[in-house]
Amino acid sequence: MFTLSDFGGMIADRARLDAHAAALARVVGPESVVLDVGAGTGIMSLLACQAGARRVYAVDSTDFVHLAARVARDNGFTDRLVVIQGRSTELTLPERANVIVSDLRGALPPHGSHFSDLIDARTRLLAPGGRLLPARDTLRLAVVSVPEAFAERREVWRSRPHGLDLGSALRYVDNSAQRHRARPGDLLGDAVTWARLDYATLTELGVRGAGTFTAKRAGAGHGLLVWFDAELIDGIGHSSAPGAPESMYGQVLLAWPEEVALGHGDRVAFEVRADPIGAEYVWTWVTEIRRAAGDEVVARFRQSTFEGQPRSIEALRARAADAATALGPAGDDALAVLEGMRDRRKIGDLGGQLHAAHPERYPTLAHAHRFVATLADRFGRRA
Ligand SMILES: C[S@@+](CC[C@H](N)C(=O)[O-])C[C@H]1O[C@@H](n2cnc3c(N)ncnc32)[C@H](O)[C@@H]1O
Repeated sequence: MFTLSDFGGMIADRARLDAHAAALARVVGPESVVLDVGAGTGIMSLLACQAGARRVYAVDSTDFVHLAARVARDNGFTDRLVVIQGRSTELTLPERANVIVSDLRGALPPHGSHFSDLIDARTRLLAPGGRLLPARDTLRLAVVSVPEAFAERREVWRSRPHGLDLGSALRYVDNSAQRHRARPGDLLGDAVTWARLDYATLTELGVRGAGTFTAKRAGAGHGLLVWFDAELIDGIGHSSAPGAPESMYGQVLLAWPEEVALGHGDRVAFEVRADPIGAEYVWTWVTEIRRAAGDEVVARFRQSTFEGQPRSIEALRARAADAATALGPAGDDALAVLEGMRDRRKIGDLGGQLHAAHPERYPTLAHAHRFVATLADRFGRRA
């Protein structure tokens, strides 16, 4: 969940903001209809109004989007900005947009429902010949030497607090991806491109790529650092590369399980993939390290965030495609509430009914009300 301070941080990333302002100024004209998907507090919508759009739709699933309406009024854009709270996937518009602007990434573009939401918006809400901003993202990586971050991620589990051996956690730590902010000097060679995402044609939700990184200087290697370069329109973009001063994203460190001493010219062959599993992405990175001379593999690792936390076999089986499904008690309650919502019953009535029927699960009206309100928020249609 985002906070106001998070949205402030996004606006404070001036490189990103200025690139969007420049790109919108270039593509928006007096006849333009702009859709801002995931508008947050509406900053991109306001830039689109400033660029002269005829109509701008600011759509966000959170309450923060209502700030856009206030700020639009303060800046004289009320007649052109339409604020809609909801998910873009449930949105219908009276007209198609010429420009769809969005930033639904996390630290990296494969994130949550980013790709499927964009594909949906492109298919249903973009006019023929319309533009998506960003147009493209390029995924980049480099091997880095980050001794402090590497030691820190394992430190607590090795520290034997009160004499307790917590070492069993290390196998999970070694399969974890972590947000990081590297300095350009941490890179042991030139960055390599491992995937390109062209949003006008993207259909796959997964991303994969492979390549070889060559060390340009000797140093202790700790893993692969991944970031992206965004191209909003031809020639205008921003980047989360190490050293990008105000980048709100940072990079992601796909660390190795052990430090590897690299010499000048050593080669690091890698394969990286992000697979959509459930609501999030599972990252897998395979590394093979060879010396500058010779073809012998001196280190080989295969890691995956799927192994980055303990998982119950029963829970995994229950999610398999051939698993039979059944409703538990909370599911029965949710079904009753959803049916009540279809009959347009009031939240207070539905809460009262739950509380009366199941006081063991909803000991007070407030407990039941919260359960109903959460469902109404997620699945209700807004008037
Ligand atoms: C990273 S913030 C970007 C905010 C703002 N557009 C900016 O660039 O500064 C992403 C926002 O998108 C919203 N969001 C994500 N997917 C959405 C969707 N499919 N429909 C509506 N809002 C969405 C989130 O709630 C969040 O407020």
